[in-house]
Amino acid sequence: MIEFKNVSASYDGELAVLKGVSFTIHDGDFVAFVGTNGAGKSTTMRLANGLLKPTAGEVLVDGVATSQLKTSQIARKVGFLFQNPDRQICCNSVREELLFGFQVLGEQGPGAEAQVDELIDRFGFDPDAEPYLLNRGTRQLLALASIIALKPPTVILDEPTTGLDYRECQKVMETVAQLNAEGTTVVMVCHDMEVVGDFAHRVIAMTDGQVVADGPTFEVLRNQEVLERASIIPPQATAVAMALEEQVPNCPAAVAQANTVEQLTEALAAAAQEGGQ
Ligand SMILES: Nc1ncnc2c1ncn2[C@@H]1O[C@H](COP(=O)(O)OP(=O)(O)OP(=O)(O)O)[C@@H](O)[C@H]1O
Ligand SMILES: [Mg+2]
Repeated sequence: MIEFKNVSASYDGELAVLKGVSFTIHDGDFVAFVGTNGAGKSTTMRLANGLLKPTAGEVLVDGVATSQLKTSQIARKVGFLFQNPDRQICCNSVREELLFGFQVLGEQGPGAEAQVDELIDRFGFDPDAEPYLLNRGTRQLLALASIIALKPPTVILDEPTTGLDYRECQKVMETVAQLNAEGTTVVMVCHDMEVVGDFAHRVIAMTDGQVVADGPTFEVLRNQEVLERASIIPPQATAVAMALEEQVPNCPAAVAQANTVEQLTEALAAAAQEGGQ
C-alpha cells in the first residue's frame, strides 16, 4: 500500500511543485495518473519510490515513511519503469540485463538464473541480443521484464506506451494487465486516454501540483469539469456516447452509458432494432 498524506514537494526548496497531495493506492489497484504537462505526475512517481522526499507531509510505503527507508529497501517493494527505457538499460546482452537487478540487490545465484530463463521464455527474448539494437517496443518490454524479474508487489510505470506503435503498445499493456491480474499493484502515468480507458480501474487526475479528481476510471473520464481542468479528452467511444446523450432526445441509457466500442455498438444495434419494430 502506498499512502500520500498532504504531500508537498519541491526541487529547489522554494517553488512547490506538489501542493498538499493525498491519496491511497491499495494492494491490487490499477491506477492511472493523468493530467496536464508539468502537473506533477512524474514528481509524484519519484516520491512514491523514494527517489524524492517530501518537503511537507508523508509518503508511506506499507505503513513506513519513505524518509525512514533506504532506496534499496523501497526498490524491493516498488519497481520503477522510466519513460525512456534507455535510461534503464545498461548491459551488453538481454540475459545480463535481466540479471542486473539481482546483482544490484546481491541476490545472484541459481534462483536468479532460473527466474531469468523463465522471463526469456515468457517474453520470447533472444538472450544474446544486444539491448541497444532491439526496436523501441522490445527495449520497453526488456526494461519492464527487468523490473518484473525482481517480483516487486507494486510497479510504477511512467508513460509506458509513449513512442510505441499500436502493436507494441498492446504487447506492453497486455503484459502489465496480466501482472495486475496476478496480483501486482500497477500505478502508471499515461497521456493516452484510450489506454487508460482500456486498462486502468481508477484514475487520479492532476493539475498544477494538485489532485483534481480520484475515482473509478469512467466516472473521472466523464466528468466535464475534470476534463477541462486536467486538459484531457475521454476515449473516442465514451466521447461519442456522451455526445449522443447530449444531442439525441430520449437517448437510450445503454447508449448514453457506453464506454467502449463494443458497448456502444451493441447498444446502438439494439436501439436500431427496437426502432425498426
Ligand atoms: N528535475 C527537476 N528539476 C527542477 N524542476 C523540475 C524537475 N523535474 C520537474 N520539474 C518541474 O516540476 C513540475 C512538475 O513536473 P513533472 O515532471 O512532475 O510533471 P508531469 O506531470 O510529469 O509532466 P509531463 O506530463 O510533461 O511529463 C514542472 O513545473 C517541472 O518543470
Ligand atoms: Mg512526466
